[in-house]
Amino acid sequence: MDFSERMSSYRDDINRSLESLFDKKSPEVLYEPMRYAVNIGGKRVRPILCGIFYRLFGGDPAKVLYPALAIELLHNFTLVHDDIMDDDDLRRGNKTVHVKWDLSTGVLSGDGIVSLAYKVLLKEKFERSGEIIRIFTDGLLEVCEGQAYDKEFETRNDVTEKEYVRMINNKTAALLAVPSAIGALCAGAGEDMVRLAEKYGRALGLAFQIQDDLLDIAGDEALFGKTYGSDVAEGKKTYLYILAVKLMNEEDHKLFLSIAGKEGITRNEIFEVRKLYEKYGILEKAENEAARYIKEAGSVIDLLPEGPFRNELKEFTAWMLKRKY
Ligand code: IPE
Ligand code: IPE
Ligand code: MG
Ligand code: MG
Ligand code: MG
Repeated sequence: MDFSERMSSYRDDINRSLESLFDKKSPEVLYEPMRYAVNIGGKRVRPILCGIFYRLFGGDPAKVLYPALAIELLHNFTLVHDDIMDDDDLRRGNKTVHVKWDLSTGVLSGDGIVSLAYKVLLKEKFERSGEIIRIFTDGLLEVCEGQAYDKEFETRNDVTEKEYVRMINNKTAALLAVPSAIGALCAGAGEDMVRLAEKYGRALGLAFQIQDDLLDIAGDEALFGKTYGSDVAEGKKTYLYILAVKLMNEEDHKLFLSIAGKEGITRNEIFEVRKLYEKYGILEKAENEAARYIKEAGSVIDLLPEGPFRNELKEFTAWMLKRKY
């Protein structure tokens, strides 16, 4: 079995388990959108990562299921509220919850999913359960901080690269560090190894968000499953935007600023931004920056215990580098 087949098989198992969490049906106005948001698709990279770290440190496979599912639920909660905050209509190739239903359904079903995440996390006891719950909770609060910066930056056009990295470290890398660290912790890994797992997840997460920024404008909408050019429409301070401000000549800079974040932006204007990015080699630069962080994550792997799951983590990391959705 090659690695992408193994990923699909992990994903199928996770999907079946997630499905089985929704045995409670009423009130339907709460549980139907919750189930929809969770089960409509998704790569499931976080629970897969948690499982790989857990097995890498010799854990008994049956026990990691609930923490892994809890992290996926936590991530799904952030997506539902993120789509409200970003005013997006498309997620995983389907309508977002607040568009399919309404705003209050989006808010409440998000609340329901994060509550369910904690309920599932608490199902299994581990020797270091206290620390596991703390890491999980710190991760959630950190995402909120990142989302706060993300929103605040929409109305600024002087965001520095340093501020950008802090923002994505909070909003995205946190939720890749959490599954890595929790997987290691659940398996009883030592403190040094847990820190390495976290370090791996951080670097991977920074790469992951830069790729996401890139796919917003360079990806295929149908495959990516999210509205094309949404970041441009919202004036998001993506890695591409930061480079644009730094590299463009005065004329292009002016044109760029007149389009990015513009009310009632058209598809042609989004294409115009793409052309500007291409003119300055920005898409390629973003790709290289993501690859640099992936490499940094890869260098952490060499410090982890040898064995089949270390190889699997290498394959997982290589798979992430090539992701198109
Ligand atoms: C989307 O995460 C949000 C970001 C952190 C960029 P994923 O790309 O993991 O989304 P799904 O779960 O596969 O849909
Ligand atoms: C990713 O931010 C972080 C969270 C969802 C918390 P984005 O806003 O870029 O994510 P997508 O592109 O909507 O998935
Ligand atoms: Mg978004
Ligand atoms: Mg967002
Ligand atoms: Mg995005």
